[in-house]
Amino acid sequence: MFCRFDASLAPLVFSDQMIQISVGVPTTNLYGIGENRKPFRIQVEQSPGFSLWAHDMIPKINANQYGSHPFVLGIEPNGDAFGIFLLNSNALRIDVLPTSPVTIRYRTLGGILDFYVFTGPTPDDVIDQYWALIGQPPLPPYWSLGYHLSRWGYGGSSGMNATIQRMRNKQMPFDTIWNDIDYMVKEMDWTYDHKLYGQLPDIVKDVHSHGEKYVMILDPGISNTQPRGQYAPYDDGITEDIFVKTADGSAPIVGEVWPGKTVFPDFTHPKAESWWQKHAQIMHSKLPFDGLWIDMNEPANFKAGSENGCTSNSLENPPYTPPLEGGSIIDKTLCMSAKFHDGLHYNLHNMYGYFESRVTYNVLKSIVRKRPFVLSRSTFVGSGNYVAHWEGDNFADWSDLYYSIPEVLSFNMFGIPFTGVDICGFRGDSDEELCTRWLQLGAFYPFMRSHNQNVAPDKDPAAMRFSSAAHDRNREALRLRYRLLPFLYSLMSRKKAVARPLVFQYPTDSTTYSIDKQFLWGDSLLITPVLNRGHTTVNAYFPQDTWYDFFSGAEVSKTGRWTVVSAPLDKINVHIRGGSIVPTQVPDVNTQKSRRNDFGLVVAPSARKTSQGFLYWDDGETIDAPFNHIQFNLDGERLTSTVKSSNYATTMTLGSVDVYGVAIAPTTVRVNGIGVAHTYDSVNKVLHVTRLKVDLLKPLMMTW
Ligand code: NOJ
Repeated sequence: MFCRFDASLAPLVFSDQMIQISVGVPTTNLYGIGENRKPFRIQVEQSPGFSLWAHDMIPKINANQYGSHPFVLGIEPNGDAFGIFLLNSNALRIDVLPTSPVTIRYRTLGGILDFYVFTGPTPDDVIDQYWALIGQPPLPPYWSLGYHLSRWGYGGSSGMNATIQRMRNKQMPFDTIWNDIDYMVKEMDWTYDHKLYGQLPDIVKDVHSHGEKYVMILDPGISNTQPRGQYAPYDDGITEDIFVKTADGSAPIVGEVWPGKTVFPDFTHPKAESWWQKHAQIMHSKLPFDGLWIDMNEPANFKAGSENGCTSNSLENPPYTPPLEGGSIIDKTLCMSAKFHDGLHYNLHNMYGYFESRVTYNVLKSIVRKRPFVLSRSTFVGSGNYVAHWEGDNFADWSDLYYSIPEVLSFNMFGIPFTGVDICGFRGDSDEELCTRWLQLGAFYPFMRSHNQNVAPDKDPAAMRFSSAAHDRNREALRLRYRLLPFLYSLMSRKKAVARPLVFQYPTDSTTYSIDKQFLWGDSLLITPVLNRGHTTVNAYFPQDTWYDFFSGAEVSKTGRWTVVSAPLDKINVHIRGGSIVPTQVPDVNTQKSRRNDFGLVVAPSARKTSQGFLYWDDGETIDAPFNHIQFNLDGERLTSTVKSSNYATTMTLGSVDVYGVAIAPTTVRVNGIGVAHTYDSVNKVLHVTRLKVDLLKPLMMTW
C-alpha cells in the first residue's frame, strides 16, 4: 500500500490569505471535488483545476458553480479506496497534477487546514466514513420521491391549471406542482400575485384534494424599497436586525436581485429563524405549501458587491484569487467584508446556502409537523442533512443530458443523494425525443423534477406540442419510476449512496473506473440510458456477474465486456444483478394512490441461485415513523421472507412474483403451502406468478 496522504512533496505555504498544501496520492482514479461540471472520473492527465466558490452560474466546464464540496475519493489499482476531505469554507482552488505520485494541490484563501482521511477499504466504506462525519441524510417524505412538475412562467393560474389538467387527463403520474418566482408580487418573498395567480389558493386546494402536493420558491433577497408598513418581511427584519451588514456594520448591505434592490437575511443570526418562521406561517395560512424551494442562495446578487460597490481592502482584493467565473471574488455576490452575526462574508460565503437550508428545514418542520422537503441550489458539506439539490440552470441538449449523470453520482458521494437535474433542460427549446430520453433517465435520478425557463416553450411530459406517441412514451417512463418507488424508498432508508457508479460495486474491474454513462441503483439495478439523438442502440458494459433484462427477464449471455443492446425510443435499458430481489408496486397517478396498490417482487438469482432484498415501509411522512422491514431471501427454488419489524400497522399485499433464470419449467408452484397458478416463459426462462393476495406482514414461503 502506498501513502494516501503524502504531504512531503512540496513546501507548505502559510500566509494570512493563502494557505497552500500539496498532497501526493497513489492513484489517478480520483472522483469528487464539486460542484463542478466534469466527467465523473477526474481527468488527471489534463491537469484539471477546480475553483470552489458558490456562484450563480449556469453549469459549464471549468466554472465554479453553486456549491462547495472539497471531498475527493481515490481508488487504487488494487481496488482499495480512500477519501480526503478538507473542511474549509473559504474560496478554494484544488488542482490535480499528473505528477508521480499524482498531486492534489489545495490553495485556500483562509481558515485552517482541517483534513480528514478515510481509509475505506471499499468505496462504500469511504462514503460511510465521510457521512458519519458530515451527517447522514434524513429519509425524505415518500411523496417527494414521486415526479415533480415545475415551470417558471405558467402565465398565471390558468396556465398552471392547464398544465395540471393535461397531466391528469393523460394519466401521467406526478406528485407535485411547483411555483417559481412569477407567483409573487414583483418577485417578493411571502407574497402572491392576486391578479395573475388569483386562483392559486383554489389550485392548492384542488391539488391537495387529488393527493398531490404544492411546492413554492423563495429567494433570500428581500425588497427594501417598499414604503414602511407595506412589506412586513422587510420591516420585521429591520426591527429584528437580521440582515447582513455593510463592512462598518452600520446598515444592511443592499444588492439587487429579482425584486430590484434587496437586502439579505443573515441566516447565522439567532433571530433569523423566528423571523423566517413568522412569514412562512402567515404565507402557509394562505397557501398551504408542502415543500419549499430555496434558490439564488449563493447568495446571488446582480450587482458586484453591492449597489455602492465595496470598500477597498485585502478581503475584496485578496493577494491570490483562484480563477473564477466573472473574474472576481465579488462577481454576482455581496462584498467580502459584509458582516454576518457569525463572521465575515469572506469566510462564510460558501455556507450561505447551508445556513439558509438549516433554517428553512427547521421552519418547515415546525409548520407541517412532518418530514420537511426543501430543495436548495447552493450546498455545502452537510447540506444533505436538510435539503435535496438540483443542478441549476442546465440547457436542453444532449450533452447536458450526459453531464447529469456525473452530477448525480458526485452528489451521492457528497451526502446529498437526493439530487437530480431539470429534466428536458431548463434553458432552451427541446424536442420530444430529447424530452422522452430525459424522462427515461430522470426516472432514475433520486430526485425527479422537470423545470423550465420562463422564455422556453412547454417541455412537460404532457405538453400539447408533443405527439400522442411521445405522451405514451413519457407516461411509461413515469410509470416505471412509480413502479420502482418502494425500492427507491428502501434504498433511501439505508442512508447510503443511492445512485452509485459501477466502480463502487466492482472496484477491482478497471473497465468500470471511467464509466459514467451507466450507473447503479443500490447494488441491484444497472441503468443504461440513451444519451445521443437518433440512437436506438446503446453500448453497455456488463461487469462479470449475472445480469438479466429487468423487463423481460432474459439473461445477458456474455458479461465482463461491452455489448450493444437495443434501445428503441420507448425503452430505457435496465438490468437487474443476479443476487438481487427488488420490491415494486403497481404504479398509479400519484404516490397517495400507488401506496395502496399491490406490491411485486422481481427475483434475480445469482450463479449460486441465491438472492437477497428488502422492503422498508412506513407512513411516508411522520418523523421517526414506526416502520416495517421485510427481508427476502432466495435459496434455490425457495423464496422466503422474514418480517424483521412490523411496527407500522397497515395492509401490505403481495400481488406478483417474477423469478428470472428458472431453467426448467416448474410443474407446481406453492405459496405458503398452497398451489397457485403460474406461467412460464420458456424463451426468457422466467416464472411469473400473478393474482396473488398474500399478506406481506406474515412470513412468505414460495416454492417451485
Ligand atoms: C434561477 C434558478 O436556477 C431557476 O431554476 C429559476 O427558474 C430562476 N432562478 C427563477 O427563479
